Amino acid sequence: MLESTTSLAQDWVAYFQSNANRAGRLPFLAPRESALSLAQEAALVRTLQRFNLGESGEGSYLKRFAARTGDAAYREAIDLFIAEEQAHSHWFGLLLKRFDAATLNSHWSDALFTRARRLGGLHVELVTFLAAEIVGQKFFGLMAKACADTVVATVFGQVVRDESAHIAFHIGTLGRAFAGHSAARRWRWFWSWKLLLAVAIAIVCWDQKAVFREFDLSRRDFSRSCLLTFELVTQRIWTGRPIGPIIRRRR
Ligand SMILES: [Fe+2]
Ligand SMILES: [Fe+2]
Repeated sequence: MLESTTSLAQDWVAYFQSNANRAGRLPFLAPRESALSLAQEAALVRTLQRFNLGESGEGSYLKRFAARTGDAAYREAIDLFIAEEQAHSHWFGLLLKRFDAATLNSHWSDALFTRARRLGGLHVELVTFLAAEIVGQKFFGLMAKACADTVVATVFGQVVRDESAHIAFHIGTLGRAFAGHSAARRWRWFWSWKLLLAVAIAIVCWDQKAVFREFDLSRRDFSRSCLLTFELVTQRIWTGRPIGPIIRRRR
């Protein structure tokens, strides 16, 4: 069972609650632009479809594991975190509507991610989520800069800020979880996790190759940036010092 860190979890609850109902503040109703080439639009639609599905999960396993911690505030924070991921899915769905494109019902990479998360308990779930957060943060960060459609770029920019907060949220939980682990056990986690991240990077590079090509994104820069963030995240986890919702405080 995780140690009770109710006050920090309550900070995260307040952070996630302050983020609720943001769709009305994002420019989804702005007139459609014609800033993208047809090839860019087709590649972007594929990306939006993939992530609309990927972020739509109910998080039932994660919620169940969070309930077992006995920390009501952490359980509520996890509920709100899942709701925020579902909001991202909703936003991507609204962008798909702008491009008159349909959503997907299934995708092999989504099924693979779900299966990986369910191989273990709360920590495997969080480690897998954290790999996805890092990949998403870096990928949408590149896209927010490269996409000439200002509505899409604005939404992606907000997603990047949210994913940064999600990373901090999970670092706090995993820092406490790994606090009593031996160096050898941490080493095994580190390399299993790095392998998982490498697979996630490879899947994005391959599955999203059209968007990398059409928006002139560098797969090397993307991969390096994911791995660098991974190093920083794991160093922070090993210190065991929890992180509060610093992004909200900076706004
Ligand atoms: Fe997300
Ligand atoms: Fe996230």
